[in-house]
Amino acid sequence: MTFTLTPSRRRVLKTLAALALARRVDSAFAQSTTSLPPKLVNAVYTRQILIITVCLLVAQMVLIAALLVRRSRLRLMADALRAGEARHGALLRALPDLLFVLNRDGVYLDYYAPEVSGLYAPPECFLGKHVRDIMPPDLAVRFERAFAEALVSREPVVTEYALDMTSGRCEYEARIVRCGDDKILSIVRDVTARKASERALADGEAALRASHIDNQTLAARLIVAQETERQRISRDLHDDLSQKLAVLNIEVTRLAADSPPEIRRRVDDISASVNEIAEHVHDLSHQLHPSRPEALGLVPAIRGVCVDMSRQHGITVEFRDDDVPLRIDGAISLCAYRLVQEALRNVVKHSGATRARVELTGVGSTLKLVVVDEGRGFVPDATGLSGLGLLSMRERVKLLDGEFGIHSEPGMGTRLEVRMPLAASVSHVLAADEQSPV
Ligand SMILES: Nc1ncnc2c1ncn2[C@@H]1O[C@H](COP(=O)(O)OP(=O)(O)OP(=O)(O)O)[C@@H](O)[C@H]1O
Ligand SMILES: [Mg+2]
Repeated sequence: MTFTLTPSRRRVLKTLAALALARRVDSAFAQSTTSLPPKLVNAVYTRQILIITVCLLVAQMVLIAALLVRRSRLRLMADALRAGEARHGALLRALPDLLFVLNRDGVYLDYYAPEVSGLYAPPECFLGKHVRDIMPPDLAVRFERAFAEALVSREPVVTEYALDMTSGRCEYEARIVRCGDDKILSIVRDVTARKASERALADGEAALRASHIDNQTLAARLIVAQETERQRISRDLHDDLSQKLAVLNIEVTRLAADSPPEIRRRVDDISASVNEIAEHVHDLSHQLHPSRPEALGLVPAIRGVCVDMSRQHGITVEFRDDDVPLRIDGAISLCAYRLVQEALRNVVKHSGATRARVELTGVGSTLKLVVVDEGRGFVPDATGLSGLGLLSMRERVKLLDGEFGIHSEPGMGTRLEVRMPLAASVSHVLAADEQSPV
């Protein structure tokens, strides 16, 4: 049988030879130096001592490097700690609040106060004492409840209270939070000034509300008084002046019956003028009377106003109505009627326009009124506007919870747009007074 020496077999033989040599060296050591020449023994020892020394040196260097790293880490930590402390110190100095640390039983352990005079008791009296020994009994009970709540909650528990201090009664807000597992941090802020200004603000708001209600009451009463007065004047015009003019006309005509033709002609002219005045007084009496829109219906009443204005002032007033309910609350229809009268009077007086348009529309549960002209316009916010017309329109609409808008600018005409809820009732003020409708 032939034995071929392949590379792998050669590798195995080499390993076996190396193992045999190693075992021989080991046993040589085991048999002690007696079986080896002293020179060889010295060389082996020197080599081993060298290896051990190098190992020790490496270990020492690794240790030193580790110590250096640790020291620099410690230094960094110390720096961070110092920076943190400085930050916390600055924060505390900037805080106007008092800070108290208590244990979970409610015993004061530590505190921070910008000024000791801000404390309810001197530190030596409360440190180490229970909250019950320091605070008034009812407040101590509230605090204990808040501590218990804070210990089981992640959110701060806020407690507001007042204390009699040497400077007077002060109000505080304590925000109580759990601090670690067994401590409580209470951050206390003096809110005396804030509470006083809140109270002043609330008082001011209440006074403002009251004066607003007073103003509304006054406006409502003025409008009612105005309507009552218009009613009286309307009655006087109708029952007194109209009658007297009619009698005057009859008298003048009778006087002229037996007169010469020249005088008769002149008397006829006078009679025609008296008739014209009587007609005008009659119209005026009707326009003034507050019951007209209710008596006629809102749409015919407003159409009548447009026709009267066109006739009396020589302008064209176009009137459109759409979907206006037949039955509308008296206060709302009188308001719409008066608004159209005043808006058209303003067109005649101020706009210089020869045309105007009035639109009255029922839109869902509201009544929409629009009066437009293409006249000279004006600046609605101008403080110099001194008349009562716009003011009284606005007040009337406000009393019925409606929206009033006037859009105008110089040279661009004027558009009045009003929306009133159809269900609006007369303001509570008027209802309480049981006055006639606005
Ligand atoms: N349609 C309009 N075109 C141009 N200017 C107007 C128009 N309506 C109102 N103004 C301006 O607004 C002002 C205030 O109108 P408002 O009706 O309040 O008072 P007034 O008509 O002057 O007086 P009053 O109505 O008390 O008799 C008017 O003086 C006028 O300058
Ligand atoms: Mg006016």
